[in-house]
Amino acid sequence: MKTIFSGIQPSGTLTLGNYLGAMKNFVEMQEEHKCYFCIVDEHAITVPQERLKLRENIKSLAALYLASGINPEQSTLFIQSEVPAHTQLGWMLQCVSYIGELERMTQFKDKSQGGKEGVTSGLLTYPPLMAADILLYKTDVVPVGEDQKQHLELTRNLAQRFNNKYNDIFTVPEVSIPKVGARIMSLQEPTKKMSKSDENQKAYISMLDDEKKILKKVKSAVTDSDGIVKYDKENKPGVSNLLTIHSICSGESIEDLEQKYADKGYGEFKEGVANAVIETLKPIQERYEELIHSEELDDILDRGADQASFEANKMIRKAKKAMGLGRVK
Ligand code: TYM
Repeated sequence: MKTIFSGIQPSGTLTLGNYLGAMKNFVEMQEEHKCYFCIVDEHAITVPQERLKLRENIKSLAALYLASGINPEQSTLFIQSEVPAHTQLGWMLQCVSYIGELERMTQFKDKSQGGKEGVTSGLLTYPPLMAADILLYKTDVVPVGEDQKQHLELTRNLAQRFNNKYNDIFTVPEVSIPKVGARIMSLQEPTKKMSKSDENQKAYISMLDDEKKILKKVKSAVTDSDGIVKYDKENKPGVSNLLTIHSICSGESIEDLEQKYADKGYGEFKEGVANAVIETLKPIQERYEELIHSEELDDILDRGADQASFEANKMIRKAKKAMGLGRVK
């Protein structure tokens, strides 16, 4: 049995990309492994958030985790800011990170493109906090989408650097990226990843979009003028993205889908894609509605925070000892 850790930011309703690239795989992993799933609200405040909206998003994300199949009897589900060990170790790891390597993170570069004046220092020091999330729990495997690969590489480097410099206390984690679905693309610009912060709402499917919206968004997805349903990421990014989405949602292989739609137009193909997405999201949405205002949700998050704190505090004691912080007790 391995230890698994992953996190999602509560910065808006999750997209189909978050689900297919990450959350869906979490559910499969919890059967065989010891899992920690986190609502990383401290990461969300690296960019401006409206306080009441953030609170709402935190609860909503917790309900979505559960509605997607995370079982609190098997996995620990918790909110990052309710376990102070995360920022404690985050600080210690900032002190072993170099500004140069943090400035090289593509996500930092993307988000600070408009000049550094309005960019918070939290955006720069975000990766050591993410490393802390992972390293606190002796994590063996981190399931994420492709966009997190560079952060995981840094986490491994920081763990090794700390182990060499101070004491060998951290497990160096492996990254697990799904073979299909690691990078679900925007429906409007299929060379760009689907993102919940996209200004164009037609670019992404939210996990809580109703049937009508899903159909409308898929129907207006950008494709090409070939009229052939074929997987070719380079030349047909739009169709390839829809094929990927269809395949993961319906469980049919891409080759089978190419055959199925061989003599059909994009209209029929898009209807098939939309239906597969609707069938996938419908049971999750139904369960979500039951959970979102339930007391059960708070109980689960309370228990999760206690369990996570218990484990994380053991690692904090080791890290403080290794660095010489505080007193001998
Ligand atoms: P976040 O909140 O941006 O995304 C959550 C997860 O969804 C994946 N993802 C996608 N997968 C496929 N296609 C897409 N279009 C797509 N968009 C997002 C992400 O790769 C991620 O797995 N830094 C992280 C959160 C985090 C974390 C951690 C993750 C904080 N601490 C520790 C793992 C371990 C983030 O911003 O994810």
